[in-house]
Amino acid sequence: MTTGKLVCILFAVASSHFLIVTSLRLLSGDHYCDRTHLPSTESLRSDQFTVLINGYSESRIRILQTVTGVYASSPSVAAVVVLWGNPNTPSETLVELSHNLSISSPGDAPISVIRQPSSSLNARFLPRPWISTRAVLICDDDIEVDSKSIQFAFNIWKSRSNNPEQLVGLFARSHELDLTSRSWIYTVHPDRYSILLTKFMFMKTEYLYHYSCAGGESMAEARSIVDEMRNCEDILMNFVAANKTGVGPVLVGAKSVRDWGDARNDGGRRRQRRELTVAGEVSVGLSSRKKGHRKNRGDCIKEFHRVLGKMPLRYSYGKMVDSIGEQGLCEKNGKLVFCDQQLSN
Ligand SMILES: *[C@@H]1O[C@H](CO)[C@@H](O)[C@H](O)[C@H]1NC(C)=O
Ligand SMILES: *[C@@H]1O[C@H](CO)[C@@H](O)[C@H](O)[C@H]1NC(C)=O
Repeated sequence: MTTGKLVCILFAVASSHFLIVTSLRLLSGDHYCDRTHLPSTESLRSDQFTVLINGYSESRIRILQTVTGVYASSPSVAAVVVLWGNPNTPSETLVELSHNLSISSPGDAPISVIRQPSSSLNARFLPRPWISTRAVLICDDDIEVDSKSIQFAFNIWKSRSNNPEQLVGLFARSHELDLTSRSWIYTVHPDRYSILLTKFMFMKTEYLYHYSCAGGESMAEARSIVDEMRNCEDILMNFVAANKTGVGPVLVGAKSVRDWGDARNDGGRRRQRRELTVAGEVSVGLSSRKKGHRKNRGDCIKEFHRVLGKMPLRYSYGKMVDSIGEQGLCEKNGKLVFCDQQLSN
């Protein structure tokens, strides 16, 4: 064996060892929260956003293909990343999926699929060194939104993103104080809202860091409540944003939204398109499953309030609609008014 070959082998052994050590380190939250590994806030670009899609079910790859294709075709999208949360999906499938989504995409933005480092719902909000934009779109793999409405929502985010930097999204809910039980509940209110769902929500990239790394012990406790409840990471993100801005989020109307329903919640049944109202969708009679879901979500609000020591959620009214150009008119009690005058209370 020549010395050259030996050096090569030694190098290969050393570098694979290095890879293992590095990937182990990637699994710990500390690494994600190390600011030196993240781009500086000033270097992030404002003219584009990064799409972070929660992926889970292999049975919905066809929908995922459509959804990622729509995002990748937008000139405002820097990258589309599917965060795969199902630990049982083999790695080869994910590699193949990544490849399939890329070659079938009609758009220019890169599409990739990456496995989540853990099954924690909090992993959705880990800060990532490869995000190069000031805004991220947090969304689910079962929500199809028309491209004009995606752009409209991003324009609204940009126009309101100086200070305070509000969440902007398509589906809204509300917290409310129930006077008989004297406790917080989670509900759909006909004309006000305080919580946006992560089915489709724009936010400042910086909030990933605030959620995952800031807030000390009390935020660590709040994140562990998300793990215990296996729910409510979206509500906690609303707490984080409202705590920063001091105002409620911004609801935007979309021309066309198709909600395929969450296969994890309804055993794979696909729900057909629902029409959107002020709250984001029609409120139909509640099934007992839905009632249980609401009760759990109310419990999350109570618990977050308790561990964080305050209730930062604030109400907003009305919805941004794109009916007359992009002037930002809001619908309130059936009338159109300029949003700046009344969106937040
Ligand atoms: C990728 O595409 C090929 C060819 O269409 C198909 O056979 C395969 O099942 C796809 N794999 C995934 C994971 O989507
Ligand atoms: C809320 O804001 C305060 C003051 O900026 C900060 O100390 C605290 O960690 C924040 N809490 C959350 C939940 O983000």
